[in-house]
Amino acid sequence: MSIIKINAITVPGDSGDELARRFAARAGQVDGQAGFEGFELLKPTDDRHTWLVITRWADDASFQAWVNSPAFGHGHRGEAEGASQPAAPQVGMTSELWSYEVAGGSALS
Ligand code: HEM
Repeated sequence: MSIIKINAITVPGDSGDELARRFAARAGQVDGQAGFEGFELLKPTDDRHTWLVITRWADDASFQAWVNSPAFGHGHRGEAEGASQPAAPQVGMTSELWSYEVAGGSALS
């Protein structure tokens, strides 16, 4: 059964659009990872400042393998690292990892 890992990222003020741009630039980088089933970036539509990265994996081991892989480190160390300029400052102020499994529901597919 799939498992769900959610990264809850809190961003200051109106920096959310920059977060979305950075995700758009990196979407696809995780696609080839074994056990990866998809992700969505969710933007708050109320007055919260917490964006959610909802990721779905075949099992916990697949997720752990990705988090410990060079690919994860590469995608999470700032866009300009390795270039002549210093890495762009991170947009998020805090982030929290939430772990879930599907316990019920229905879907029209
Ligand atoms: C549940 C799985 C994930 C975890 C635990 C995680 C972890 C983090 C953390 C801790 C941050 C804030 C600090 C930082 O920039 O390093 C972050 C930001 C970010 N993550 Fe992830 N992430 C996950 C999934 C993803 C996925 C699937 C993608 C896209 C392929 C992604 C792309 C990004 C981007 C673009 C940022 C913004 C970095 C910035 O502010 O420059 N993340 N993630």
